[in-house]
Amino acid sequence: MKKLLRIEGMTKGQILHQITFDMEPGEMVAVMGPSGSGKSTLLYNVAGMDQPTSGQVWLGDEEITKLSEDDKARLRLHRMGFVFQQMNMMGNLNLIDNILLPATQANRGRGRKSKEELNLRARRLMEKLGITGLEKRKVNQVSGGQLQRACICRSMINGPEILFADEPTGALNKSAATEVMGELVKLNREGTSILMVTHDSRIASSCDRIIYLLDGQISAELTLGKSVSGVEKRREEKVARWLMEMGW
Ligand SMILES: Nc1ncnc2c1ncn2[C@@H]1O[C@H](COP(=O)(O)OP(=O)(O)O)[C@@H](O)[C@H]1O
Ligand SMILES: [Mg+2]
Repeated sequence: MKKLLRIEGMTKGQILHQITFDMEPGEMVAVMGPSGSGKSTLLYNVAGMDQPTSGQVWLGDEEITKLSEDDKARLRLHRMGFVFQQMNMMGNLNLIDNILLPATQANRGRGRKSKEELNLRARRLMEKLGITGLEKRKVNQVSGGQLQRACICRSMINGPEILFADEPTGALNKSAATEVMGELVKLNREGTSILMVTHDSRIASSCDRIIYLLDGQISAELTLGKSVSGVEKRREEKVARWLMEMGW
């Protein structure tokens, strides 16, 4: 099968060294590792938000590392979604307008969609993520879990092939984290590939595969496969054992 993402010998200054890995279409991969090991840097360099010092990154047939800044921005807008721990929502806009921002940015030139069509798309996503009714709320008028669901809606609004998430549950309490992770798994099962950074082994155990980063290098990988309900506890234990072996 054709790879969704290919990273070959990616180095970033003194932070990342010769990072090589692939992602299959539909995969959900977690990046773990100690604080300062380069997880966020890896995500930003793979997603074209930063330029590696050397090495190549491809999204499908497109070599991201060869693109101009403008072309990378276009690629990010149309083909990638982003979810961060610091949610980066606009405080002066309500939730639905925040969610609509990337859609408005992408909706230029020929074949423009009507405002109603985009609105409908945003409302459908909000419904799917369980935050219907919060359209007009300001960012500071919803809970952390609701806000992160809105961020996921925003990241999905242009129908990305892949979501990049940096500690998407890092700012949430345990039950909100579990719920938000459940939503990400659901989106993945519907076809969106996900590459996410997490320091939570329980969260990582819902992913298909875990990459362990140590001092800017991939030091280990654990393949779990897609989770089937009922085996979660065993997966968590397996991940915990694996992490312990690495001195986590
Ligand atoms: N813009 C930057 N300039 C210089 N060093 C940086 C920059 N961003 C991160 N670093 C350093 O790179 C290393 C990896 O950082 P980061 O990718 O944020 O790690 P992680 O997400 O795993 O905690 C750290 O030592 C950090 O201090
Ligand atoms: Mg980080």
